[in-house]
Amino acid sequence: DIKGFIFDLDGVITLTSKYHGQAWHQLADELGVTWTKALADGLKGISRMDSLEMILKAGNKENDYTEEEKIRFAAKKNDNYLTLIGKMTDEDILPGIPAFLKDLAAHNYKICLASASKNSPIILEKLDLVKYFPIVVDPSKLKKGKPDPEIYVRGAELLHLKPEECIGIEDAAAGIQAINGAGETSIGIGDATELSAADIRFARTTDMTLVNIEAAMKINA
Ligand code: BG6
Ligand code: MG
Repeated sequence: DIKGFIFDLDGVITLTSKYHGQAWHQLADELGVTWTKALADGLKGISRMDSLEMILKAGNKENDYTEEEKIRFAAKKNDNYLTLIGKMTDEDILPGIPAFLKDLAAHNYKICLASASKNSPIILEKLDLVKYFPIVVDPSKLKKGKPDPEIYVRGAELLHLKPEECIGIEDAAAGIQAINGAGETSIGIGDATELSAADIRFARTTDMTLVNIEAAMKINA
């Protein structure tokens, strides 16, 4: 039986995924790396330093910079990102998410956040969602980022649940791979081709309801 839900943040709860993309795009331009849709999609869910490495690799520049320079690039991207999210409020929560969270709480499901972002605590504050997410996996304490399952394994542990009792929710292929690798049920929100590995997929957040999830799980069973 499903007892808990483990949420990704960027691209699932709010469209900060767009701002991450914009900030990386700007840095890629500055580094002379061609920005493509494949690169943009591949970066979704990936940690800050791993994202920078992916961008450098895409431009065959992975050996061109020192560790200090790389840290400066990542800090610059984060400064841009923080400017982009500066004006966010609870109106930036994706439609259907508040109702879904309320429904989960009403049915006593356990909930936690498994975002790769070190900015997720401030975003939860801005969105006024701290009350729903008292439990947040700290990505700085993990050895490996998504697509490694570690963050979803840790999420289940923090909820005191077995992986098979958890559903993970993601907008990115790397995140779905992490959920599946952890032995949890995966829900993908977004594009069917990008999220083909998801156990259940919804085109948009408003489709993600307990009724629709239960129906999809019956079909898959
Ligand atoms: C993930 C985003 O949630 O967090 C990625 O999908 C981002 O785009 C990653 O790179 C790390 O975020 P941050 O805020 O710690 O740089
Ligand atoms: Mg995401």
